[in-house]
Amino acid sequence: MTDNASNTPKAKGQGQAMWGGRFSAKPAELMQAINVSIGFDKRLWAQDLAGSRAHARMLMNQGVIASHDGEEILEGLARVEDELLSGTFPFRDEYEDIHMNIEARLRELIGPTAGRLHTARSRNDQVAVDFRLWVRDACDRTVGQLEALQKALLTQAETHADALMPGFTHLQPAQPVTFGHHLMAYVEMFGRDAGRFRDARARMNECPLGAAALAGSPFPIDRQQTASALGFDRPTANSLDSVSSRDFALEALSAASITATHLSRLAEEIVLWTTPMFGFIKLTDAFTTGSSIMPQKKNPDAAELIRAKVGRILGSLTTLTVVMKGLPLAYSKDMQEDKVPTFEAFDALELSLLAMAGMVADLTPNTENMAKAAGAGFSTATDLADWLVRTLNMPFRDAHHVTGSAVKTAEGLGVDLADLSLAQFQAIEPRITNDVYAVLTPAASAASRMSYGGTAPAQVRAQIARWKEQLA
Ligand code: ARG
Repeated sequence: MTDNASNTPKAKGQGQAMWGGRFSAKPAELMQAINVSIGFDKRLWAQDLAGSRAHARMLMNQGVIASHDGEEILEGLARVEDELLSGTFPFRDEYEDIHMNIEARLRELIGPTAGRLHTARSRNDQVAVDFRLWVRDACDRTVGQLEALQKALLTQAETHADALMPGFTHLQPAQPVTFGHHLMAYVEMFGRDAGRFRDARARMNECPLGAAALAGSPFPIDRQQTASALGFDRPTANSLDSVSSRDFALEALSAASITATHLSRLAEEIVLWTTPMFGFIKLTDAFTTGSSIMPQKKNPDAAELIRAKVGRILGSLTTLTVVMKGLPLAYSKDMQEDKVPTFEAFDALELSLLAMAGMVADLTPNTENMAKAAGAGFSTATDLADWLVRTLNMPFRDAHHVTGSAVKTAEGLGVDLADLSLAQFQAIEPRITNDVYAVLTPAASAASRMSYGGTAPAQVRAQIARWKEQLA
């Protein structure tokens, strides 16, 4: 066997053939394999068309291209759009990315006039505007999904504004709260999350189109025109920054990661609450799965998957941060790696938000179990201490001590605080009267917490009303 022959995979042994097969691709093929992005950036086609239309119209208006050429280009782009919408558009690897695929197709449809579209433009500002438009849309969609989730939470919160449940710290029973109050905590979190997406959107809403390759354009382009045609507030002010910045995506991914963190906390609570040990809520078959071996099982898979998605989403933020770190100005091909993580993160986030809204609407609380648990674990001990302060003018630290003794007595007897007799209370603190029993029920405890933002049902209802108005 000559050296020459061994260059073909066939001439090698079995194992070598596999190795050889893998690496037999010509450098040009390997280059294409690593360079090609159409497989994922085809998702930018609508944004790419919008950018091209705005650019073509501006070039016509400015007299950079002739009107008849511009019209021909716009008609051609409409035909390209038809193909994309009907699924007949030929996506081809040899044209590398969405920008060149669309331009190549335009040329096939209208001929060499297509070549005028790229006047005063580069793929660098083209991809920058496409991606910004995509991320902007993603932020808008996310805000809508967050609001839908908030509404689902509000509906449950309103129905159960005074359903008692234990409030926890350290996952130990702390003080009684209401289920409505607990759910409203998430309404607040998701409200801030929506705010972060709105803030990010406002900051990213500047148009990079017209920065061209990196230095701007010698043609008399009107960047204000393309910016407003695409719904941007203004054009970006530095051409180098325009083509090399991806912090708009990083910011959106940060907001996504924080949202995913909040979702994972609610998901975790749903997982806990559905176990029979808690027995706080029930999900229907719509959001649970059975076990193939254990017939009694009803698993909260959707909640578990939402709990896990934060890994993927935060992973995307890490990926893009590392891609961007240390890149010299202006554009580098590294930036092509911005899309997959961003698409993936928003896909995961969207699915999580939709599934969570569905699950929240689907759940039914077992208010009896929750109320029972609300009274367990001496959850009204703080109410006893507060009563001692209010009624006997005791310093809180002393009241805390007296209450501790009462809890110890009750614990020793295996009963709740409210089950201690007046004599037993008075053995600890002789000035305690029968009035004390009124504060020892979970309902009284919750109702007494009337401070702004507290768990008293009246306060909870006030917050529900505020949010309903805000989301209307
Ligand atoms: N596909 C490229 C990207 O996603 C488009 C920009 C390519 N620019 C260039 N000069 N090669 O970043």
